[in-house]
Amino acid sequence: MCAPDHYDVDYVINPWMEGNIHKSSRDRAVDQWQKLHHVIKDHAIVDLVKPQIGVPDMVFTANAGLVLGDVAVLSRFFHKERQGEEPFFKQWLEENGFTVHELPPELPFEGAGDALFDREGRWLWAGYGFRSELDSHPYLAKWLDVEVLSLRLMDERFYHLDTCFCPLQNGYLLYYPPAFDAYSNRLIEMRVPAEKRIAVAEADAANFACNSVNIDDVVIMNKASDDLKNRITEAGFRVIETPLTEFLKAGGAAKCLTLRVTEPVRVELHASATIESRTIRLEGHLLDSGLINRALDVVVEAGGSFQVLNFNLGVQRQSTSSAEVKVTAPSHSVMETIMSQLIDLGALPPPQEVCDCLLEPVSQQGVAPDDFYVTTIYPTQVRINNEWVTVDKQRMDAAIAVSADSKTAECKLLRDLQTSDRVIVGVEGIRTIRKPESREQRNTQEFSFMGAGVSSERRVELVVEQIAWELRQIRDQGGRVVVSAGPVVIHTGGGEHLAHLIREGYVQALLGGNAIAVHDMEQSLMGTSLGVDMQRGVSVRGGHRHHLKVINTVRRYGSIAKTVEEGVLDKGIFYECVRNHVPFSLAGSIRDDGPLPDTQMDLIKAQEDYARLIAGADMILMLSSMLHSIGVGNMTPAGVKMVCVDINPAVVTKLSDRGSVESVGVVTDVGLFLSLLIQQLNKLTSAYQMAQRL
Ligand code: ARG
Repeated sequence: MCAPDHYDVDYVINPWMEGNIHKSSRDRAVDQWQKLHHVIKDHAIVDLVKPQIGVPDMVFTANAGLVLGDVAVLSRFFHKERQGEEPFFKQWLEENGFTVHELPPELPFEGAGDALFDREGRWLWAGYGFRSELDSHPYLAKWLDVEVLSLRLMDERFYHLDTCFCPLQNGYLLYYPPAFDAYSNRLIEMRVPAEKRIAVAEADAANFACNSVNIDDVVIMNKASDDLKNRITEAGFRVIETPLTEFLKAGGAAKCLTLRVTEPVRVELHASATIESRTIRLEGHLLDSGLINRALDVVVEAGGSFQVLNFNLGVQRQSTSSAEVKVTAPSHSVMETIMSQLIDLGALPPPQEVCDCLLEPVSQQGVAPDDFYVTTIYPTQVRINNEWVTVDKQRMDAAIAVSADSKTAECKLLRDLQTSDRVIVGVEGIRTIRKPESREQRNTQEFSFMGAGVSSERRVELVVEQIAWELRQIRDQGGRVVVSAGPVVIHTGGGEHLAHLIREGYVQALLGGNAIAVHDMEQSLMGTSLGVDMQRGVSVRGGHRHHLKVINTVRRYGSIAKTVEEGVLDKGIFYECVRNHVPFSLAGSIRDDGPLPDTQMDLIKAQEDYARLIAGADMILMLSSMLHSIGVGNMTPAGVKMVCVDINPAVVTKLSDRGSVESVGVVTDVGLFLSLLIQQLNKLTSAYQMAQRL
């Protein structure tokens, strides 16, 4: 221990210190520390290290280092405020006969504050996330010859492992589960049986109940609720409370104020750590496009850690940058999670590490091997027999099946997998091609993307101008535009405009559900949409029955096409589709009335129909249907221009994770949008005609 002669809160390096600068009383601190010292002396031999001026946190000797047998790993403090303590602790450890190991510079590790031995010495629990770096853990395993289990801390208030985690004798564990990520909680549950886990509530955790000193059957701590004390007592321990409120102001308590130098050594057990590291390469407009930030965020959010090995900054505006990053993960499975996300961002292995992809046979029809690689919308290549092969039928949420001759690969939905298929597993030998997004492209995208919220009318007009221009181009070049639309198109008065687009040859396929067809025909046949008079905008008495009458009529004729042929249906969207031979697909759902004979209630067939109609599209216009827009988005590879119009910004933002130049979101009323679009197309047409006449 280290007496609090110079203790104070002089700076803020954790949330507890905030608002507490110079707020602690030295006298009270001395008194509390002496009482703790006294209690501990009843159960153990206490050595003291000499307090030093200018390093007020030196009282927290848990952070001196980590000691096992005659070996010590010296702390390398994360904050410069505490780095001054290092030489004093080093000196004490050396004078007391320990072999002191020092971590490489810039690799923080805060000693026993972040590393706690199982009380039986079976393994070492090591924390990371705030003060200690995951990369320090393999050094601990090596130098102390012990198995290291890495735990990720998630709550700033519990920035050191010993603030929320306390292994007790006989395999018990006192801890605060919400301080850890899901993976770490699973690891804890795997190693500590349920009857040995004493989970504390937030209030106890905030009183630093987990920051306890356990010597044999006594547990010494600041304070605990009666409930917690009972539970600890039931486990066969004796709780001794001794107030340490003055030290809580600096974010520490009983355990922090001590360093145990007599940890149990188990000679029969040896080093092991599940930590894995890999190097990846990134190329492109790394800074401009924010790619490097995204990649590093992916690593940290998934529970890994990174080191940028080198960064080649492109100096000119148009030049690209490249970076090599070492990624560390606490386990193989976390590494795979991180790598698959990095692959999606276009990360590559360094050239010397490129290898073939891993294949596993499908052993049950319609079921992929557990570890299968899940595809994205981005063009993907896989390495087979030392050759990069481009994956066919790119779409997201599929598996990649490789042909028997190993020459081709394609995306296959789980349900389509056959037992003769071989599927790519793991993350080896897979790369995705992301077109480098330049600053200019991003700016146009930001300009046209309205997902962020309010889009001024002028901005909507500008986007409409751009879309009208592209629609015209695509039509004149014999391209393919697919429209997916919901019934809101009809309710907002957009029906006639969409019908106009179809009539004029701007639409090559229409995707929707039962409702858009029902309400379109309700309007054509009865003048209402969901019972609302579309001319006057008021509900018609009994109008709610209209749509069922319409469904009944179409059912009588057998199909929408027959209803048109019989001359019963003579206007509207679906009339135009039939007349102009524009194929449509109506996908059924649980809420459908009827349904219409044309509605495909077998959803697998409906998905196949959609996919067939989407193939080869140059542009997809998604009009106010979250369900169908997302469905369509899932089937469409990157590179297809998508325009999503919805009054709800959340629907439009969904599309933005495509993050590409090719998606445009417009938050507006769809009826209004369509009417603007028609106006703009008409303007273009008259401009063309003028030009021709001249
Ligand atoms: N003020 C000190 C810090 O933030 C408190 C250290 C508490 N020590 C501990 N092992 N949790 O570093």
